[in-house]
Amino acid sequence: MTLIPAPVSHIAGDGSFTIAPETRVAAPSAARPVAEYLAEWLRKSTGFAVPVAVGPASRGDISCGLEPGHPPNGYRLEADPTGIRITASDTAGLFAGVQTLRQLVPIAADADSGWSVPATTITDFPRFAYRGAMLDVARHFFGVDDVKRFIDAIALLKFNVLHLHLTDDQGWRLEIDGWPRLTSHGGSTQVGGGGGGFYTQADYSDIVDFARSRFVTIVPEIDVPGHTNSALASYPELTCDGQAPGLYEGIEVGFSSLCIDSERTYEFVADVLGQVAALTPGPWIHIGGDEALATPADDYIRFIDRASGIAAATGKTVIGWHEMGRSAGLPAGTIGEYWSFTTPEGDAADLSRRFVDNGGSLIMAPGDVAYLDMKYDASSALGLEWAKGPTSLEDAYGWDPADIVPGVEEADILGIEGPLWTETVTTLAEAERMAFPRIAALAEIAWSPRRERDFAGFADRMAGLGEHLSALGIAFERTPNVPWR
Ligand code: ACM
Repeated sequence: MTLIPAPVSHIAGDGSFTIAPETRVAAPSAARPVAEYLAEWLRKSTGFAVPVAVGPASRGDISCGLEPGHPPNGYRLEADPTGIRITASDTAGLFAGVQTLRQLVPIAADADSGWSVPATTITDFPRFAYRGAMLDVARHFFGVDDVKRFIDAIALLKFNVLHLHLTDDQGWRLEIDGWPRLTSHGGSTQVGGGGGGFYTQADYSDIVDFARSRFVTIVPEIDVPGHTNSALASYPELTCDGQAPGLYEGIEVGFSSLCIDSERTYEFVADVLGQVAALTPGPWIHIGGDEALATPADDYIRFIDRASGIAAATGKTVIGWHEMGRSAGLPAGTIGEYWSFTTPEGDAADLSRRFVDNGGSLIMAPGDVAYLDMKYDASSALGLEWAKGPTSLEDAYGWDPADIVPGVEEADILGIEGPLWTETVTTLAEAERMAFPRIAALAEIAWSPRRERDFAGFADRMAGLGEHLSALGIAFERTPNVPWR
């Protein structure tokens, strides 16, 4: 069975089910959107009509059924010669089961057996609730269609969060009412030149809606108080000397800061976060807080105390990079995103534990294994190396989030995330190639039960997934030690 992420359990049965021209997808009306999604994908793959039948399933159907008793987002998939039945307690679980089925259906019909799915019973549910990828749309801008394609690609691996890094020194990417220069000026650049871009609020809502159709929650990040040159360049009133810096197209970090003792700064933060929260149906808002090297240490703490309160007042749960643990005034339940290494450096572990002590939890994104923008090997044309890169597929697979911060246990971890920073990444195809296949390793760590990591077995399954990626037109790196077909 070549599934990624590996399911909790699977038992092979006898024979197989063959998808035929008359095959239907059956579902109750509450599951109709998932059934339509599955049918649409089956039509594209097989060329068959694949009607959706709302109501009870018949022999020979592929059915999606809702019933109590499954874990959240979990599902059971039973395939036998009479049909395929996916059952779950919520539509997110059905959607996860459909992603499993997508990997079970061959990429092409076999001349003898047709579109056949081997008989099996799979019982499955996620290890972590938060299974995230991050796309940096600030260093290089990625348009709405690119983001949708990226969401579709990660949904195949049962990711359920896309964190959008919407603002940075090189570009401000989300239209904010009352602050038009953020995007008209601050959104006009990106790393290396060539113009930038931004999302109107309607564009952003379009992304959010599409993500929801794929059971992916968007986490918007407005990175403050550092990483703000694009905002400072747009509104000199956000600087302490009232002088707007020029726009920035390089890749240095740590040189920009909002003016910490200006009330205008907090009006800005409240306006921006209020609008972002109103546009975002998901429960989280991310306020960055990383690498504020141009903000004096005391100022940083005062700023985070106040900005995190403003963020929480929007009704969202606040997320910040682990440096925000320096603030003793974080709203209870604030979530820290850990981005030090698998062996914590400096005070990263201590700062991260503070989120847990404050009633929050951690998202683990250790840079040396989860950063998808690291080079694969020294000869990679794309990518950076600063986070202990290069980072091989073996590196991305060979770690566990519960082994990193002493005193932080499984239950303190909300999930994991693979950030894709885009200093060197300029197109969606390049983004896919940096993400895949390493993001598949992260998917397995996020979803599958903790087991001994068997890289050879993973690599065999990865080769199978590679065929699906090719069929879907998703670019990936043909990393060594995988028997790619
Ligand atoms: C980060 O990589 N600065 C979170």
